[in-house]
Amino acid sequence: MEVLRRAIELSSDGADIVHMAVGEPDFPTPEPITIAGRDALMNGSTKYTDARGLAELRLAVANYYATDYGLDVDENRIFITPGASGALLLTTALLMEPGDEIILSDPGYPCNRNFLAAFSGTAHMVPVGDSENYQLNGLLVDKNWRETTRGVLLASPANPTGAVIGESVLEEISFLVDKENGCLISDEIYHGLIYSDAKKVSALQVSPDAFVLNSFSKYFGMTGWRLGWLIAPASVAPYLEKMAQNFFICPSSISQHAALAAFTPVARDIMEAQREEFKTRRDFLLPALRDIGFDVPIEPEGAFYIYAGLPEGFLDSESFTQWLLEEHHVAIAPGTDFGSHLANRHVRFSYAQPLDRLQLGVERLQRAIQTG
Ligand SMILES: Cc1ncc(COP(=O)(O)O)c(C=O)c1O
Repeated sequence: MEVLRRAIELSSDGADIVHMAVGEPDFPTPEPITIAGRDALMNGSTKYTDARGLAELRLAVANYYATDYGLDVDENRIFITPGASGALLLTTALLMEPGDEIILSDPGYPCNRNFLAAFSGTAHMVPVGDSENYQLNGLLVDKNWRETTRGVLLASPANPTGAVIGESVLEEISFLVDKENGCLISDEIYHGLIYSDAKKVSALQVSPDAFVLNSFSKYFGMTGWRLGWLIAPASVAPYLEKMAQNFFICPSSISQHAALAAFTPVARDIMEAQREEFKTRRDFLLPALRDIGFDVPIEPEGAFYIYAGLPEGFLDSESFTQWLLEEHHVAIAPGTDFGSHLANRHVRFSYAQPLDRLQLGVERLQRAIQTG
């Protein structure tokens, strides 16, 4: 956020900053969604809705699981939330008792630790590197499970690494969590943005009682509309509903009406074209960074991030990102935003920018590293 703030400051002073620190698609929201949102405004669909979300939208999400995952999900288990952030808030509020721990990967999405802390829980950060494909696995979960452990929170594809968990690893983890009577929480917000042959596997496919959260932010291109969803076991639905009523009253009605158009074939075609464009960008940026000397041992399969080791001779990611921004006008995120395991040796590049901007960023990086 600090990098972003400084980048905006420099831009408003007239500097041409290449923004590779951003965590949202640069594409506009697909037009069918925007039109549905405009119509909702004009026809007065601007009142509170059911705290769980519009029945039609919960049904549309259930249909999405049927078509995309072959899963039959009862819409009474689906909660529409203010972004995946709202889903994370409900899940942690429901599950955490003082002293409870949740196993998370380090590096990982930074807000998770804070959600847990807000409800007196603790993040048990487990270091993962290239030898673990930057993801947790059964062995790591087993080794790190303690008396106070309540569950595991996974994200696939992951932020900041783009790493995808394979189905067999997901099964391993789910088996161990079940054995310990724990909870499996799966953040699937970057599902839909996978560029390899890796299948998008939902935790619900291997663990029907998993807490699965997703969002309209990334694949559906609706970051500012603040809409996501949570799928939870039927047994806890009444508690989640009460909390949703108290915390939010309901998610934005306008955004919900807009999101009904997100599952139409015409909107999905736009999203699939955008996914192709993200792949083209990744396929440009990854070899370019490696040529410059950044260390990316495994091809990131999804999201729109590349997590890279600093080139030889550069030792501190925070001073590196500051220097790159101030002297070379390229904004990237320091690894220390995402954890502590080798964090100061890593940085995160986002390719949620047009190809010509990424090309300019790469030229500047080349110059920066050469002149060091
Ligand atoms: C892994 C991950 N989870 C959750 C979120 C929250 O997203 P939102 O609240 O916009 O749905 C983000 C946002 O960047 C993220 O990267």
